[in-house]
Amino acid sequence: MKRELLFPTPIYFKMVSNPQKMNNYLFPLIKAWSKKDKSEKKTNAGGGWHSPVDMNFKKEYKPLIDELFIMQQEIFKDYGMQDKPGLGNMWSNINYPGSYNKQHIHPNSHWSGAYYVRVPKNSGNLFVEDPRAGPNHILPRRLKGIPRQLWRVVIYPAIEGQMIMFPAWLTHGVEMNESKEKGEKGWRVSVSFNFIQLDKDNKRE
Ligand SMILES: [Fe+2]
Repeated sequence: MKRELLFPTPIYFKMVSNPQKMNNYLFPLIKAWSKKDKSEKKTNAGGGWHSPVDMNFKKEYKPLIDELFIMQQEIFKDYGMQDKPGLGNMWSNINYPGSYNKQHIHPNSHWSGAYYVRVPKNSGNLFVEDPRAGPNHILPRRLKGIPRQLWRVVIYPAIEGQMIMFPAWLTHGVEMNESKEKGEKGWRVSVSFNFIQLDKDNKRE
């Protein structure tokens, strides 16, 4: 018997070139920002701080933005997309102990993702859900140990210094931060973003 898997849901990962340097640089900036600006109110909010979404216009974040663009170019190539990617928006998240992010998608974008600045132990992983209506409607009894392509929910450990990117239509969320650390040592700090497709004149397609 032969088998073909159609309509893939690609999930891409990559470490930045110098994770420790990047995160030691980013953490104080994001911490200071969180003291200055109030949290945005979002439908997926679960108690954390969500920065304004103009992070892509702040020049101090260029070192991370450069890394995101390099990875996004690779994804455009891998997925057969014509040039070129544009960063639609970008923001920081601080999930304090007890906070989380409800399942959601990112409308009007091509690729969404996250970068992990600080991930204390047990501070919550990313999970993605099968986006197809059919397999969510029919849940057959199945054998133990089936391959992960057949799972309905997959959890990805959040790893400091890692970028993860996936289709913006893919339902995802973040588990509750159950860190027992006190103060900022218990903060789960990440950056989220949406990439769009621009035409040759830098206009949105
Ligand atoms: Fe998200």
